[in-house]
Amino acid sequence: MTQNHRSNAQQDGNGPYRGYRNLPALVGLQAMAEATSTGLTVAESVSRIMRLHWSLKKLHRIFISRITAMPVYELKMAFSLHSHYCAEHVEEFAKRVREMRQPPYGLEVSPDVALDTFFDEILAAPDIEPLVLGLYGYAVPAVVRALERFIADTNKLFDHPTWRICRLTLVEMRDVLEYGEAAVQALIHEKTEANLRGWTSLLERLLSAAGDLDGSQPRTEGDLTPIYSAEPYKYDPVPKRDDRFHDLYNMGVNAEAFLLDPDIPPVPKTVMLYFKRMREIDVPEMMSSILSETQGKPWEYYRAMTRQLWDEARHAMMGEIGFVSMGIDWTKIPLNFTWSLGLNTLLTPLERHAVLYTIEQGLMPKNTGKQYEWEVALATANRLTELIQDYDWADEVLHARIGRDWLVPELGGQKEALAFGDRSWSRVLSDWNKWREDGLTEHHNWWPEVYREACQYWGIQPDPKLLAYDTTYETTRPDMKQVAG
Ligand SMILES: [Fe+2]
Ligand SMILES: [Fe+2]
Ligand SMILES: [Fe+2]
Repeated sequence: MTQNHRSNAQQDGNGPYRGYRNLPALVGLQAMAEATSTGLTVAESVSRIMRLHWSLKKLHRIFISRITAMPVYELKMAFSLHSHYCAEHVEEFAKRVREMRQPPYGLEVSPDVALDTFFDEILAAPDIEPLVLGLYGYAVPAVVRALERFIADTNKLFDHPTWRICRLTLVEMRDVLEYGEAAVQALIHEKTEANLRGWTSLLERLLSAAGDLDGSQPRTEGDLTPIYSAEPYKYDPVPKRDDRFHDLYNMGVNAEAFLLDPDIPPVPKTVMLYFKRMREIDVPEMMSSILSETQGKPWEYYRAMTRQLWDEARHAMMGEIGFVSMGIDWTKIPLNFTWSLGLNTLLTPLERHAVLYTIEQGLMPKNTGKQYEWEVALATANRLTELIQDYDWADEVLHARIGRDWLVPELGGQKEALAFGDRSWSRVLSDWNKWREDGLTEHHNWWPEVYREACQYWGIQPDPKLLAYDTTYETTRPDMKQVAG
């Protein structure tokens, strides 16, 4: 590398500039030639940060809003993770703006109308295919591009805090992109892509009109008339599941009553633990509605709640892992959605949050809650079951705290929050018989069949007493309280 740089420090005049006894100069951050020739001004840097901040917020909103009605389980889970990544990084970029500017920071103001339309179009995508293509074929690549360009353009030393945030964000956004590319490949056929060409070229024109996501490129003019977002997007609170899921109103097997029965040995309880974990799909479906329908909170609220939402998605996948480990086909088990459906359609966001909080507080007592489930797992002597319950418990402790931080103060205290949550929950649980009368479910007892499969895996004969297990949720809630009539 040749250097034109003049320095008072040691320079042999022939070779590159060197540190003391060959120690890397500039703490190894960059070569001197790069240090002397690259950099954005504070104003340029802040402008790019603001656009990234805004874009990550928009992206977060799309992922969050589309979890509930996303039928495809894998995408529901992916959206949960990807919204979590966005939520975490939004705050870091905001913090950096506050370091470099005096208030008002303008973080709530759109940096570019075209950019807004770009994200609104994807938010309002009417089907899975345009949604996936818009997110992973256009929005996420634009974020990755902006981060890569930022990293290349800013001076690593002068603007080190920004450079660092970009680099750490890029690690996760590249993961999102990698997943997204696989998703596009799996779900979007050439013909679909061709059919969506009119719309995707609008996305391209919008980005181009904005000078790309970071505003660093020449702006072009073009027809920016909205297609999908011509009508404002409306959040869909009704949970949907793909065709591997069935009998979504089935409340025929009371897993909690089984788990808490001291006469039942630990090993058969493994199935109920996995069932309970995988049934947690309904929590992201429900929390998505709280996040989508609650406005005006500090970002920390959205960040914490999104982290919790992702944890709940993780718990669902822990259940999936458990079933797969035993060779049990989970698609045979009715993983009902009555909880997310009821909460999302019958309660306000605050009531939903209170129900969640009440349930999570109910998981804290030693003899019935998360610790108990972990002890059951431990007693099964299966390391995977133990790990699943260990982390499920740890996460739920954090969730109880998130509720204490954000819900309890709003409801005037712990006692009030719990009573409010309890009352709200009772209002959505009284339809057991009606669902049957309406032909929505027979509340079929799926337990004996799955238990038989599990026994095959364990290499044991089914216990006739356990095969006969037939306790439903007709009169008992999952927290073992009687259902109000
Ligand atoms: Fe949970
Ligand atoms: Fe959990
Ligand atoms: Fe939780």
